[in-house]
Formats: sequence, structure tokens, C-alpha cells
Amino acid sequence: MSGALFALTLAGLAGAAEINLYSGRHYDSDAQLYADFEAKTGIKVNIIEGKTDELLARIEAEGEASPADIFFTADAGNLWRAEDKGLLQPIDSETLKAAIPAAYRDPNNQWFGFSRRARIIYIAKGAIDPALVQTYADLARPELKGKVCMRSGSAIYNLSLMGGLIEKIGPEKAEEWAKGVVANLAKEPQGGDTDQIKSVAAGECAVTLANTYYFARILGSDKPEDKAVAEKIQWIFPDQAGDGAHVNISGAGVTKYAPNRDEAVKFLEYLASPDAQVYFAKGNNEYPIGGGESGNAALDTMGPFKADTLNVAAYGRNQKAAQEIMDRAGWK
Ligand SMILES: [Fe+2]
Repeated sequence: MSGALFALTLAGLAGAAEINLYSGRHYDSDAQLYADFEAKTGIKVNIIEGKTDELLARIEAEGEASPADIFFTADAGNLWRAEDKGLLQPIDSETLKAAIPAAYRDPNNQWFGFSRRARIIYIAKGAIDPALVQTYADLARPELKGKVCMRSGSAIYNLSLMGGLIEKIGPEKAEEWAKGVVANLAKEPQGGDTDQIKSVAAGECAVTLANTYYFARILGSDKPEDKAVAEKIQWIFPDQAGDGAHVNISGAGVTKYAPNRDEAVKFLEYLASPDAQVYFAKGNNEYPIGGGESGNAALDTMGPFKADTLNVAAYGRNQKAAQEIMDRAGWK
């Protein structure tokens, strides 16, 4: 019996190749990614979707018996939580290292970024001078009193932003900044990123922060209500004269007890491939992990920007300190 045939027979005995993907991402377009991977490899993708925290608790509770092969989620802060709980294993893959810049993967190789998003400033056109809000630091300026809307200080996107700030300017200055932002709030933090953008468009506040893909979705939409919002908003990539805009990732890691480890690595390598990168950009308005053309008209309209090169692992490492600062600052 030839080696290939023998391997085929073994695979047949073991049942069809498959992976069990625990996904905390909430994007419809991901279904196309999975279908494309199945078509290319013949490896079936079984998807368990849920809230990121619930999936983490589930993998932890299932322990060694967990069927999970891959944990897939948005935000490096969430990936760090999985690593911190000991739920992932290191993957040594030259393919992943070559495709993913070092800033966007775990230095311990336990998780990898597959798409990028920036957390940037949005203002109501005409409501304030754009020159006032060119940096994250500007959001704490006293001139903005009563003009700022913000998502909750316990939302992972804001915790990661704070985690990055702690790394760059130290906890004392970061806390001063958080207090300044809270002093400028037009209303108590509520709602998601899209709600913040809509609040600015509605005139409830003049400036906010949100991830790029939320605005690109509005900018690329044909719906009259989205067009009306987009017309009122000016986007600003912060810190372009400094370190660059805060960038976060969507990413994944292979679980510690993955029953289908080899297939799981293939899936991660697929996510880093040019074919999969198109789905991230076109399907969910995220930037390709390695830079280059997004092929997405809304992202192209928003334009190129300078991205911070800080390794996103800092967001997780500083997450606890970030939450303590948010709490002390009263950023609810
Ligand atoms: Fe999101």
C-alpha cells in the first residue's frame, strides 16, 4: 500500500477531517471565510459562536476534554485573556511568522492577528475645529468640556486603548488623561461604537472614538439613514505626527488540548493567506494584517494612515491596570 493511500485509509477510519472553531466574532461575513477554507482543504469547520467571555469560560470548564481546536475573536485583549488562562498552545509556523508582522502576533506564538482595525476620532463636521482633536491626548483638552461621547471604560476596545497608553506614557499620565476625558463627557458612557458615531451625527456630542470598521460600514452603506450619518461626520486618524493611530487585531490561537491540532494550524495559515485577507477587508471592512491594498472602497475613501507599531500584546499585559485606571477615573 502506498503511503498516500495508507494515510487516506487512516483518515477514512478516523472520519472526515474537521476542526471545531469557537468564535467570539460577530460578523456575518465570516461564514464565507469558513466555506472557502472547506472548499480549498476538505476540512470541515464546525462553528460554535458565542460571547467571547462565555467561550473562554466554556473552554476552561471543558478542560482536557474540550472539543475546541481554535479560539477566534476580536481584540488582542481577549486573546491575551485566553493565553493568561492557559487555554492556548504555542504554534511554530514559518508561514504565520512571514505573513503577520511581529507587532500583530503574540511574542510567545500563542495567538496571531489576521486583520487590523484602528480606533480613531470622529467629529461632527463644523461643530469643532479639527485642529483641536488631532491626538488621543487632545480628547482630554478642557476646551472639549461637555462635547465628548465615549463607550464604557470596561469595553475591551477602550481597555486595550488604555493598555497601549499605559505602555507608552506610563500609568500616571494615562490616568490623568482618563480623568480629563471623563471631565469632558456629554453623557454617561452607553452603547457600542456605532452608537457613539450616531450620537455625534445627532449632535448629542461633537467628538468620539470608534473602530474604523464601524464607520467604514456606515460609509459604504446604501441606506439613506447611514448616508445621513456619514455626511455629518469627519474622521481623523489620531497621532499622525507622532506614533500613529492605535491599532488592534482580530485573531486566533490553537487551544491547549486541540483534538485536531494539525488541521487547526492549517486554518490559521489559511486566515493569513491573500484569499482569506480579502474576506476580512471586503466582508468586514478590516485592514489586511500585512498592510497593502484592502480592495474595499470605503476603507480606501478613509485613506492611508500611520499605524502605531507597539506590539498589541501590551494591551493584554496592561489590561488589569487599565481597568483600575478607568475605575478610578470614573469612566463607567
Ligand atoms: Fe466590534
